[in-house]
Amino acid sequence: MEKIIIQGRKKISGKVNIAGAKNAALPLMAASLLVDGWNTFSNVPVLRDIRTARLLLEHLGVEVKNGKEIQINAKGLHSYTAPYELVKTMRASILVLGPLLARLKQVKVSLPGGCAIGARPVDQHLKGFELMGVKIEIEHGYIKAKTRGLKGAKIYFDVSTVTGTENLMMAASLAKGTTILHNAAQEPEVVELAQVLNKMGAQIDGAGSEVITIEGVSALKPVTHEIMPDRIEAGTFLVAGALAGGTVEVAPSIPSHLAALLQKLEEANVKLETKENSITVKGGGSLKGANVTTLPFPGFPTDMQAQFMVLLSLSEGMSAITETVFENRFIHVSELQRMGADIEIKGNTAIVRGVKHLSGATVMASDLRASASLILAGLAARGTTEVTRIYHIDRGYEAIEEKLRGLGAELERVKDS
Ligand code: EPZ
Repeated sequence: MEKIIIQGRKKISGKVNIAGAKNAALPLMAASLLVDGWNTFSNVPVLRDIRTARLLLEHLGVEVKNGKEIQINAKGLHSYTAPYELVKTMRASILVLGPLLARLKQVKVSLPGGCAIGARPVDQHLKGFELMGVKIEIEHGYIKAKTRGLKGAKIYFDVSTVTGTENLMMAASLAKGTTILHNAAQEPEVVELAQVLNKMGAQIDGAGSEVITIEGVSALKPVTHEIMPDRIEAGTFLVAGALAGGTVEVAPSIPSHLAALLQKLEEANVKLETKENSITVKGGGSLKGANVTTLPFPGFPTDMQAQFMVLLSLSEGMSAITETVFENRFIHVSELQRMGADIEIKGNTAIVRGVKHLSGATVMASDLRASASLILAGLAARGTTEVTRIYHIDRGYEAIEEKLRGLGAELERVKDS
């Protein structure tokens, strides 16, 4: 195991390069299963989850070439089983369900199971596939699904689901007839997937709105695509700049992908400057409390909740953070309290009273975004902070300590006895 040791209160300044979006790369790698021939993706982030996705594709018989770009060819697709050993390490493996049903008409995928932040059910994915003519059995922890051929359907999601929307959009691309997804997720990653599927020859309308219409086609063709920048990595560095900054430029980053976060940062008295492909934050001002409710896009992103809580912990006055997307996404609170944060949890709301400073401590990461919040707290705290179980952060942040050191932060990764 490894940990990151941070010396707090070092001012950070400069320009930080944002990697490709993890939550865009993962569905796009799954979409490669839909076509025979070489798909080429550039700007793919170097992350544990991307390596896991590659292992899963190779397990299915898909050829993957890694380099500056990732090239994927599903011509050799021969297996329809996604084993528990791989799926349990990355829930997004569920995204192979739709493409495998479209290509092989059957699939056996381990149920992803829950994770630290919640039960993470996939009932909406399965409901959609059943409406498209798929017979589904759950047996020994596996989803076994078969179809004589996917057919278009009207699907009303009971809840907005990002990978549910993506899974069904991919399956519907090769189904017979028209599929309409109501209450669809509107995240930028969903829009990017629809754009790439249309480049492949799919006929998808409405991505980015809550109603997506897909006209099934008989076949798709391979494409080349550059993955968009990771909006959550960008948001995380904006909070870092607000907490410990001089002036930090975050690029490439697309302001419209983070509009709700940017507005909340400004409400908290954070100074921002936006350009077409970059956002600059000027730290050092006095922070003001603000109330936040996480919502599906275009609302405030749940993946920024833990990071923003650190900022509010050091903001003047009282703030309320309500988490409406996941049922257990306050695990970072107890660790922040150990660093001196004044936070009280009432149901799915955390009441945060600003304090003058946090103090460094040894804390434990529990999930991807919680680990980011603990690193941010360490940057702002007085003294030394040790963040253990740092493997969580490697799932979603490429070279985070190098990037922070490049801005002037003092931190290092060491073995944890
Ligand atoms: C995606 O997860 C992201 N992961 C998550 O990012 C992100 O937090 C989440 O969307 C919300 O924005 C990827 O894109 C790979 P959901 P996903 O289905 O699709 C409930 C990160 O940090 N739900 O939109 O799994 C579910 O329990 C990760 O990068 C059902 O009830 O999330 C949750 O309460 C963490 N039934 C809500 O919907 C279903 O069938 C939103 O989940 C599906 C979901």
